[in-house]
Amino acid sequence: MAERKRLVAGNWKMNGGRADGLALARGVAERARGPHRCDLLVCPPFTLLGAVGEALAGSGVGLGGQDCHPAASGAFTGCISAEMLRDTGCSHVIVGHSERRHTCSETDADVRAKAEAAWRAGLIAIICVGETHAEREAGLACEVVSAQIAGSIPDGADAERLIVAYEPVWAIGTGLTPTTADIAEIHAAIRALIPAGTRILYGGSVNPKNAAEILGLEEVDGALVGGASLKADDFWAIAQAC
Ligand code: 13P
Repeated sequence: MAERKRLVAGNWKMNGGRADGLALARGVAERARGPHRCDLLVCPPFTLLGAVGEALAGSGVGLGGQDCHPAASGAFTGCISAEMLRDTGCSHVIVGHSERRHTCSETDADVRAKAEAAWRAGLIAIICVGETHAEREAGLACEVVSAQIAGSIPDGADAERLIVAYEPVWAIGTGLTPTTADIAEIHAAIRALIPAGTRILYGGSVNPKNAAEILGLEEVDGALVGGASLKADDFWAIAQAC
């Protein structure tokens, strides 16, 4: 089986105006012309997709959306379809991020419908899963994540169109990370439930200091990076840890 090439993806979340977003994209594109051993992806806010896509042209850095609507088009004010993302130059879309599961009450069924939409549009779906702090404290992390995997991944998944991101809710933006043993345990549990060869990213407070240790784990196929992806130097340092 082909080796799982690592992927370092930046989720910019709701950050960046045109000037700083473009500066960041150019910074990433410039560094990406240097040697690196992983795939690179940035997921800017919808408003910056077009401009960032142009800034990344020819750099090999991929472009992704942060969410999509299940429908291809229609009367859904404020929403963006997977087809629109594709049309704007995206190759990937994040679905089921915990910030959407928790603040927008998205269910596993919603996430599954969005992943199906991503595939319909020819995008790779990055499906996020992860337990809350209370769930981990109760010893339920594996159970919760396994249930999210079962409920969120559509039938017919394959390693070409699916990436899973394990992002413990309590590790996002907090500076806290699970132990490497805990990350390895959850990744192994996820691996048993998904098609062979599918990449599993770790996300949650990845930074240039902890990246080598986390990305050094056999079961970790890359990182989904939030805060540290907003600085080209930090994002690049994480990519260099692969
Ligand atoms: P931080 O890297 O800021 O913890 O965010 C992780 C994340 O949510 C990526 O999707």
